[in-house]
Amino acid sequence: MRILSIFGTRPEAIKMAPLVKRLEAEPGVQSIVCVTGQHQSMLQQVLDLFGIVPAHDLGAMTANQTLNGLAGRLFAGLDDVLAAVAPDRVLVHGDTLTSMAGAIAAFHRRIPVGHVEAGLRTGNLFEPWPEEMNRRVVDVVSDLLFAPTASSQANLEAEALPGRVVVTGNTVIDALHLMCERLDGDAALRERIDAQFPFLEPTETGRPLLLVTGHRRESFGEGFEHICAALATLAHSGKMQIVYPVHLNPNVRGPVLATLGNAPNVHLTDPLDYPEFVRLMQRAAIVLTDSGGVQEEAPALGKPVLVMRDVTERPEALAAGTVKLIGTERTAIVRAVLELVENEDERRAYARRVNPYGDGHACGRIVAALTGKPFEPFASRELPGYRHPVVATRPGRGEDDEADAVP
Ligand code: UD1
Ligand code: UDP
Repeated sequence: MRILSIFGTRPEAIKMAPLVKRLEAEPGVQSIVCVTGQHQSMLQQVLDLFGIVPAHDLGAMTANQTLNGLAGRLFAGLDDVLAAVAPDRVLVHGDTLTSMAGAIAAFHRRIPVGHVEAGLRTGNLFEPWPEEMNRRVVDVVSDLLFAPTASSQANLEAEALPGRVVVTGNTVIDALHLMCERLDGDAALRERIDAQFPFLEPTETGRPLLLVTGHRRESFGEGFEHICAALATLAHSGKMQIVYPVHLNPNVRGPVLATLGNAPNVHLTDPLDYPEFVRLMQRAAIVLTDSGGVQEEAPALGKPVLVMRDVTERPEALAAGTVKLIGTERTAIVRAVLELVENEDERRAYARRVNPYGDGHACGRIVAALTGKPFEPFASRELPGYRHPVVATRPGRGEDDEADAVP
């Protein structure tokens, strides 16, 4: 069976890497990787880490690319690769433009598509934008739907899609386990990584570490201005140390560097290699993010996660109490972070809550399903009657000046 895995951004690469490794080791499977290069250095970091050498690289990224411009390059490049490889099956992951183009391009050539991380939904096409549309489209054309949890399975069943649904757990937990095993078993590696952050106070005795990431397109402009203003306020409070690896998207870097470049207690870095980022999550007291993957990883490490979005397609951690949705309004961010910074007991409580996203065996289940071998689906608990809580805090609505009063 010739399987072509198509991916192009950092999170897809992290979540597909352990699967590609499993496929490479599977007798009877010829695993071929095509990267679209939707991301460049942020993708290469992951390929180098996992030792993945793509057979095809479309090199599609341009500076500050538009959705339609990128989509055009992806469709054209992918069609050539599909024609040359003639795979028995294509695998795509998640909800990026690469996933959508990969799935549609395969569908146009009547090649079966397997969707890894299928069935995530917010119910709102514009949050996240354009990802909610991408993942819906991919699910429609896929004949194998690898749903990470029972809730994503329920979403797919409610849409009565033709594909077969298999509940696997999320492959990000497989990747995270691999990384934690490496870190836990190698004191020299931990020391090497910690030496890259000499400015950080000791984890046990220093001020709490707030680890920040943010990149959502729907937050560009006003949303990021609020996020940066909130971080500036938090930094000036002096109550925490902040590390923020800044995404390379110029719509993110612009406001972040302008607002926080000279702020005290804030350490801005380039995107970190995955081991470095996992190590910082291990050392963090609180994670503040709008990232999908980080929402899944940090609960698995027992860390409280404050999510700078109004809705999430990952309701499991909300239900488990390991994640809080706080929106992107400045005051709400400041308030939510300070509440946790000032309450160590509450922070510790997160460590005792369960991680709902996986058990580290998602890739084994996916390979078994692909090759017709028996396997136990991931035993994920359903969330009966779950409704997405909408935190109506988008900037521009219900503003106030309370944040200015924070010391
Ligand atoms: C993309 C995905 C988003 C995913 C995110 C993960 C889409 C539409 N968006 O958003 O779903 O959550 O990746 O990070 O698929 N850039 C670089 N070097 C890199 C990567 C990006 O310079 O290695 C800059 C380029 O100027 C590029 C811009 O970032 O044009 C935007 O990249 P793009 O992939 O279009 O959007 P992201 O915001 O990264
Ligand atoms: N990550 C990383 N380095 C960083 C920031 C994040 O390796 O500096 C990892 C993180 O652990 C997670 C993934 O990148 O696995 C999340 O990627 P991103 O937030 O870009 O995308 P999303 O998950 O929101 O699609």
